[in-house]
Amino acid sequence: MKTYLDNAATTKVDSEVVKAMKPYFEEKYGNASSLHSFGSEAKKALEESRKKIADKINADPSEIIFVSSGTEADNLAITGIAKLKGKGHIITSKIEHPAVLETCKELEKNGFDVTYLNVDKDGFVKDFEKSIKSNTILVSIMHANNEIGTVQDIEKIGKICRSKNIIFHSDCVQSFTKEKIDVKKMSIDLASFSSHKIHGPKGIAALYIKEGIKLKKLMFGGHHEKSIRPGTENIPGIVGFAKAVQIANENDVERIKQMRDKLINGLLKIPDTRLNGDKEKRLCNNISISFRYVEGESMLLYLDEKGIAVSTGSACSSQSLEPSHVLISIGLPHEIAHGTIRYSLSKYTTEKEIEYTIKTTKEVIERLRRISPIKRR
Ligand SMILES: Cc1ncc(COP(=O)(O)O)c(C=O)c1O
Repeated sequence: MKTYLDNAATTKVDSEVVKAMKPYFEEKYGNASSLHSFGSEAKKALEESRKKIADKINADPSEIIFVSSGTEADNLAITGIAKLKGKGHIITSKIEHPAVLETCKELEKNGFDVTYLNVDKDGFVKDFEKSIKSNTILVSIMHANNEIGTVQDIEKIGKICRSKNIIFHSDCVQSFTKEKIDVKKMSIDLASFSSHKIHGPKGIAALYIKEGIKLKKLMFGGHHEKSIRPGTENIPGIVGFAKAVQIANENDVERIKQMRDKLINGLLKIPDTRLNGDKEKRLCNNISISFRYVEGESMLLYLDEKGIAVSTGSACSSQSLEPSHVLISIGLPHEIAHGTIRYSLSKYTTEKEIEYTIKTTKEVIERLRRISPIKRR
C-alpha cells in the first residue's frame, strides 16, 4: 500500500489548485507589469491572490510580498532587518529551521551578536525575556517546529517584543492553515509562509511585512513587489498558493488530528518508544517517535520497501549522518536521536493507511531489533 507520510517535507498539490493554476499557464499568461489586457488580467489575479492570503492571517494585502520559498522569506526577513540596522543583537532558538539558523550564522560572521535560545524537553524556548539586551534589534522564533511539531506561544513572545520595541519575525511555514494565525493579535512584524507545505505548488511563498516595518532588499531589479523583491511574479504559482489557502479548513485539521492520535497510540504500544514534542501543543499532522535499539535510516528504508514514506529528520538534514539539531536540543542522547522517525500526515491520509503503518512499523521494528548489535537489557 503506497502511504505518503512525509507531508512536513512537501505535500501533494490539490487538484482544485491545479485547476485554478492551469489557465495562467495556457491562456492568461501575461506579465503582471505589462500595460495591455494580458498584463491587467495577470495583475488582477496577483492582487486577488494577495488578498486571500492576507485575509487568512488578518493582514492588509499591501503587507504581503511574494517570494520563491519559505527559505527566501526567512532570509529576506532576517537579513533585511539586520542590514538596515547595521549592527546589534538578534535572538533566535536552537531548534529553528536551517533557513533561519544558517542566516543567523552568516550574520554572526558579519559582526552581529546572536543568542540561540535553549529549549526544554518538549521544545519550548527557555529564558527568552532574560536574553533581551539593550541593543536587541530582532527576535526570530518559529511558530511550529518542523521535526517535533511543538507549537510555541508566539503571542506571548510577540507581546514582549512589541512592549520593548523589538522587531519580531516568526517562521510560520509549518503552522500555516493548521494553527490560527492572526498577525495583529500575535504582535508579529514579519512572518514566513510557504505554498508547497499546504497542497499548493512549489517555488512560491510569502513574507508578511507589517505596515511601517522597513528592511533592506537582498535583490536588485525592477519594481515588483513594492521593489522589495524584484523579479516577474510567478502568477500560476501565486494563484495556486492562494487557492490552497482558500480551501484549507478546520474540518480537515480536526480529522488529521484524530488520525494523528490513533497513529501515536498505536506506535507507543511498541515497547521502548517515546513521543517527541509536546502532547497537546503540537501540529495536527506531526508525529515524531524515537524507537530504542534501532537505527532511523534502516527503518526508513524498510518502511519505504513496504510503500511507506517517512523521514528521519527534516528533509535538509536527512542527507547527513549528524543527529538532528532539534532532537539533540530537546535533550535526546545521540543513539536515541538516531532512532527517530517523523510521520507527517495530510488531509489525504486515510484510516486504512494509519492501520497499515502501525502494523508495518511493528513488524519492521521487531525485525530490526532481532538483528540489532545494540541489545536491549
Ligand atoms: C519550519 C520551516 N521553515 C522553512 C522551511 C523552508 O521552506 P521552503 O521549503 O519553502 O524553502 C521549511 C521547510 O521544510 C520549514 O519546515
